[in-house]
Amino acid sequence: ENSLNEIGSPENTIVEAMKYSLLSGGKRVRGVLTLGFVNMLGGDVKSAVPLAAAVEMIHCYSLIHDDLPCMDDDDMRRGKPSCHIKYGEATALLAGDALLTYAFNLVAEANYNSDIKIEMIKELSKSSGYNGMIAGQAIDLYYENKNIDIKILNKMHNKKTGELIKLSCLLGVLATTNKNEDKTNAVEFGQKLGLTFQIIDDILDVIGDENKLGKPVGSDNENQKSTYVGFMGLKEAKDEANKLSSECKGILNGFYDVNSKFLCNFTDNLLEREF
Ligand code: IPE
Ligand code: IPE
Ligand code: MG
Ligand code: MG
Ligand code: MG
Repeated sequence: ENSLNEIGSPENTIVEAMKYSLLSGGKRVRGVLTLGFVNMLGGDVKSAVPLAAAVEMIHCYSLIHDDLPCMDDDDMRRGKPSCHIKYGEATALLAGDALLTYAFNLVAEANYNSDIKIEMIKELSKSSGYNGMIAGQAIDLYYENKNIDIKILNKMHNKKTGELIKLSCLLGVLATTNKNEDKTNAVEFGQKLGLTFQIIDDILDVIGDENKLGKPVGSDNENQKSTYVGFMGLKEAKDEANKLSSECKGILNGFYDVNSKFLCNFTDNLLEREF
C-alpha cells in the first residue's frame, strides 16, 4: 500500500476517490493469492507487492463500476457509501479508469526482467479485458431477468470473477518459477477458486449480514440477476462450493505438499467466510 500514497496529491479529486475505494478495506483476496503463490514457490514476496497491488487495483476498479446506477446500482461498498455516492458518477467512472490504467503502470515498473513483465501485462490485459472479466460483467447484465442455463452461468462466473482470481495466482508463478507445470496448476486452482468464490458471493447476497458484508444484501434479487442460488437453490449451491473448494485443496496438496499449507487454509477460510 505504500506505493499507493505516491499516486498523486490529495487535492486531486480523482486520486482522492481512488484512495477512498482502494484503501477502504476489502479482503485483499487477490493480492494475498499472488503473494501466497510467490511464497509457496519460494520466491521473493517483497518484489511481488506491486503485482499484488495491481490486481487489487483492477479488482477495485471493477467494483466501483459494478456499483454504478447503470450496472448494479448499489449504494454501499466495503462498509461505506459507494464511490459514486460519495464523489458522483463521473468521478467514480474516472477513478475506476485510473485504477485500471495505474495497475499496468505498476507492473511495467516492477522489478522483473522485461520479457517476464510483458508476459505479466499480457495476462493482466487478457484477464481483465473483453474476453475476461468484462465479458463476465456483460453476460451478467444481459442475463438479468432472463433464464440462464448452467453452462452460461458457469461461464459468467468464471469470467466475471474467475478471471481475476486466476490471474492473481498466475502472476505469482510468473514472478517466481515461471514453469509450465506451475502455470497449469495456478490456472486450474484459480479458476476453481474463482467459481467457488462467486458461488459464496451469491449465497451471501441471500443469507449474509449487511453489517458484516459491508454491501447491500438482496441486491441480486432486486436486479433479477442470474445466480447460483437462483439457479439451484441454497443447499445445492453450497454443496457445489464445498466440492470445488476441496478440489482446489487437492491441486495444492498434490503438487506442493507442506508448502501449500497457507493457501489451503486460505481456501478453507474463503469457503466459510461471512463477508
Ligand atoms: C466482490 O469481491 C465481488 C466479487 C467478484 C465477488 P470481494 O468479496 O473480494 O470484495 P472485497 O475486495 O473483499 O471488497
Ligand atoms: C461482481 O459481481 C463481479 C465484478 C465486480 C467483476 P457482483 O456484482 O456479484 O459483486 P458484488 O456482490 O456487487 O460485490
Ligand atoms: Mg455485478
Ligand atoms: Mg454487484
Ligand atoms: Mg454479488
